[in-house]
Order: sequence, then C-alpha cells, then structure tokens
Amino acid sequence: MSTKNKPILLRPVTSDQAELLTGIHRQCFTNYWNLDAFSDFFTVAGTYALVAESPLPKGMVVYRVLYEQADIITIAVLPEHRRQGVARMLLAEAIRNATEKGCKHMFLDVEDGNNAAISLYEGFGFRHISRRKLYYRQKDGSFTDALVMKCKLA
Ligand SMILES: CC(C)(COP(=O)(O)OP(=O)(O)OC[C@H]1O[C@@H](n2cnc3c(N)ncnc32)[C@H](O)[C@@H]1OP(=O)(O)O)[C@@H](O)C(=O)NCCC(=O)NCCS
Repeated sequence: MSTKNKPILLRPVTSDQAELLTGIHRQCFTNYWNLDAFSDFFTVAGTYALVAESPLPKGMVVYRVLYEQADIITIAVLPEHRRQGVARMLLAEAIRNATEKGCKHMFLDVEDGNNAAISLYEGFGFRHISRRKLYYRQKDGSFTDALVMKCKLA
C-alpha cells in the first residue's frame, strides 16, 4: 500500500534510536557516519533529533542547542521521499524548538555545490558567512569546501 499521502509526523528521538538515524544517513550520504558517531552526539547535552515518519521513516534532523546558539548537525531525507517538503518540515521544527529554548542564531555547514541543501537553507533565511577550505574528504581522496551558513532566529 502506498504511504505517499499519509500525514508526516515528526517524532523526537534520542540515543536509543541512533541506529535508525545511522540507517537514514547511510542512504543519503556517500561519506556516511557510523553508529558510534550518532551515539556520541547524544552524549553532549543539548543534542536533539527528529525523525519524519508516515509511518515509515522518511528523513531526520539532528541539531544542538547551546545557550543562544543552535547548530544543525545533519539533515537528510531518503532519496525516494525528496521534494515533498520533508526537509522543510524538519528544519522548521528544529528552528521552532531552538527559538523556544532561547536561541538567537542557528549555524550549519554545507558542502559547496550542494545546491539542493543550500536552496533549502536560503529559503529559511540562512546566509553564507564563511568558508572552511578543503573541509570534506571525498571517496576519491579529493577535498571540497564547506560553506558556513547562519540564520538569525526570531
Ligand atoms: C537537501 C535535502 C535534505 C532536501 O530534502 P527534501 O525533503 O527533498 O527538501 P524539501 O522537499 O523540503 O524542499 C525544500 C526546498 O529545498 C530546496 N530543494 C530541495 N531539493 C532540491 C533540489 N534537488 N534542487 C534544488 N532545490 C532543492 C528547494 O528550495 C525546496 O523548495 P521547493 O520545493 O519549494 O522548490 C535532501 O536532498 C537530502 O537529503 N540530500 C542528501 C543529504 C544532504 O545533502 N543533506 C544536507 C547536508 S548539509
């Protein structure tokens, strides 16, 4: 049965769902992070994650809140569920939660040339503020830059 038209729910998850987050990440990135990496994120206070489901998982976001600053650690939507507004829902909720906790700014890193993600972020008011040279290592051994983007929260 198709799940395409079922409502998408955002479910907060923690370290006990690190395997689920890892599975989504693996399907969305060439250089994906392992279970240890996701488990480690949750050892830092102020780390939150949301999974978008309808009812099967479609995407996720991991973010961190520290005083007035919030950071998107990662956001990803499974290839077959893209362009349906899932990332927009996840990011909007992360921003809402961070704002509610008193954050004034949100930051993230994005690979230079990841135009889908950059367009998503610009739509929320993120602007490119600096560049980390040769930040991401590719499978072929080459390196690409990261753009640092910042958004002022309400
Ligand atoms: C980037 C990503 C999270 C977007 O997820 P998504 O659910 O498809 O995005 P949405 O449907 O919510 O789209 C929201 C906006 O993002 C932008 N966008 C998303 N995909 C795009 C694409 N392929 N090309 C251009 N813009 C795109 C658009 O501005 C879009 O708004 P629109 O549909 O009104 O044009 C998804 O492509 C992904 O998981 N990519 C691989 C992992 C990744 O790169 N994550 C970001 C790391 S920084």
